[in-house]
This record gives sequence, C-alpha cells and structure tokens, in this order.
Amino acid sequence: MKAAHTLQTRDLGVRFGAFQAVDGLSLRLEPGARQALIGPNGAGKTTLINLLTGVYRPTAGSIHLGEQDITGLRCDQRARLGVVRTFQINTLFPSLTPLLSVVLAISEREGLGAAWWRPLKRCTAVHAEAHALLQRLRLDDLADVPVAELAYGKQRLLEIAIALAARPRILLLDEPAAGVPQSESGELFEVIDELPPDISILFIEHDMNLVFRFSRRISVLVAGRILTEGTPAEIGADPVVREVYLGNGSGFQGRQAPMGSQAHAGACLAGAAHG
Ligand SMILES: Nc1ncnc2c1ncn2[C@@H]1O[C@H](COP(=O)(O)OP(=O)(O)OP(=O)(O)O)[C@@H](O)[C@H]1O
Ligand SMILES: [Mg+2]
Repeated sequence: MKAAHTLQTRDLGVRFGAFQAVDGLSLRLEPGARQALIGPNGAGKTTLINLLTGVYRPTAGSIHLGEQDITGLRCDQRARLGVVRTFQINTLFPSLTPLLSVVLAISEREGLGAAWWRPLKRCTAVHAEAHALLQRLRLDDLADVPVAELAYGKQRLLEIAIALAARPRILLLDEPAAGVPQSESGELFEVIDELPPDISILFIEHDMNLVFRFSRRISVLVAGRILTEGTPAEIGADPVVREVYLGNGSGFQGRQAPMGSQAHAGACLAGAAHG
C-alpha cells in the first residue's frame, strides 16, 4: 500500500493571458484529510485541481507530495504516485456497465490493456477487486446495469469507484454531487465519508449543508487566493467569510439548491458556528 503523504502547494499561481486565475496559493492537505474547498463560481477551484493533477502547468510556485516536488510531472505520473481526481462533469461511458467500467480502470492501473481477461487467474482477481470496489460504493446490485440506466447519483458514485481503482492516496473530488438531486446527495457523501481513512480527500462542493456535515477542514478560495481556512466551526463563525457569502450580492451562487439563496447560506453558516 502507498504510504500517506501530505500534498501541498507553495505560492502556486497560474495566469491565462492577463488573467491570474490562481494567485500565490499555499494549501496543505494532511494525510487522512476530509477537506472542503469552497468559493464562488469562477474562484479557481477546478483550476486548482487541474494544477494539482498536472492538466495545467503553473506559471508560479510548486506542488509537493510528501518530500517530492511533483510540479514538473505529467498527469499519468502523478496518478501513479496516487494523486487522482474526479471531474465536475460526468465522464462515464454510457453503454458500459459499472462492472466493466471498474474492470477497465483496474486493468489500466495494472497495465493489462485489453488482455485483462488473460490468464484466467488474473481475470478472477480483477473481477474480485472490481466487485469489492462496487460494494464499497453501494453499487454491487447494479454491477451489470448499463451506466445510462443508472440514477445520476449512482453514476457519480461509479466515477468515484473508477478513481479508487487507481489506488489513490490523494483523492480530489470536483463537485461530486453536482447535478445530483438533493434526495441522493446525502447518501453520496455518506459513501465518501466511509472511504478508507488513509485516503486524503479534498472535495469541492457548493451545498453548505454537505460541506459542514462532511468536512473536517474548510479552505475558502476567492479570486484565486485562499481567503481563510479552518474547522467548520471556525469558518462558520468567521465574519469575513460571511461577508463574502452575504455582503456584496456576488456571494455563493451554488448551481444546486438548497443553498441557492444567500440567506440560506448565511443561516447555514450561522448554524455551523453554533453547532
Ligand atoms: N484554460 C483556461 N483558459 C482561460 N481561462 C480559464 C481557463 N481555465 C479556467 N479559466 C478561468 O479561470 C477562472 C476560474 O475557473 P474555475 O473553473 O477554476 O472556477 P471554479 O471555482 O471551479 O468555478 P465553479 O464553481 O463555477 O466550478 C474562470 O474565470 C475561468 O474562466
Ligand atoms: Mg469548478
């Protein structure tokens, strides 16, 4: 098993033309983290995940996994070190089944290519691991149902199962509940909450109810910079955060209810502060 490592950025920045999307950002994700990354639309949250996973090259600063500087590594090299992500938008193949989707992901990790079914012993091991992963994500009953026929919340769980097939030690979840009805998003986060404690998780989420329920630490990103960080209680009580959410009319515009209204966000922040 891969050892737990801290993932951190030092003065990380990326500029697109004249636009500074991420600016002087120093963030730490400790081993076993359950950390939320929150901030208004366009704050740079997805851009940060793209920087951490090597999709974008930073124009300033560095990224470290434990003692290793990974700033210059490609996506696939970082994934092999255990830095794995899911996407804000569903990236599944609709005609595959969950079982085959996970089998393919395991095969890719093992470098088996299309020969995963040969020899038979290997096939059995890959299938057993795939079933165990689906079970962990509460998808085992749906293993043979085409992805297109799954409820959207189940599809998003499958994306996490595929990410887990890469054996991450750092799991970066970009809005795992985006597009999922509120009736399913709680269960989705319960499953995330039950993932092995040696996997460090950073998740982006707009629904403050979920953020305050499932994170142990919150980083608030505004205009490409960390505004503040702390425990849910600290963030909920922070007057500056509340000002950003509530003060100037440009606060959180989470795409998914229930936190669509700023008043609701404020109530939740206040609730968390007292909780
Ligand atoms: N490749 C790129 N080229 C130019 N601008 C970009 C690029 N990628 C991101 N941006 C810009 O960087 C800013 C931050 O975008 P990002 O997608 O990181 O926001 P976000 O915090 O994830 O927002 P949301 O909550 O809406 O998902 C936006 O203004 C976006 O248009
Ligand atoms: Mg985003």
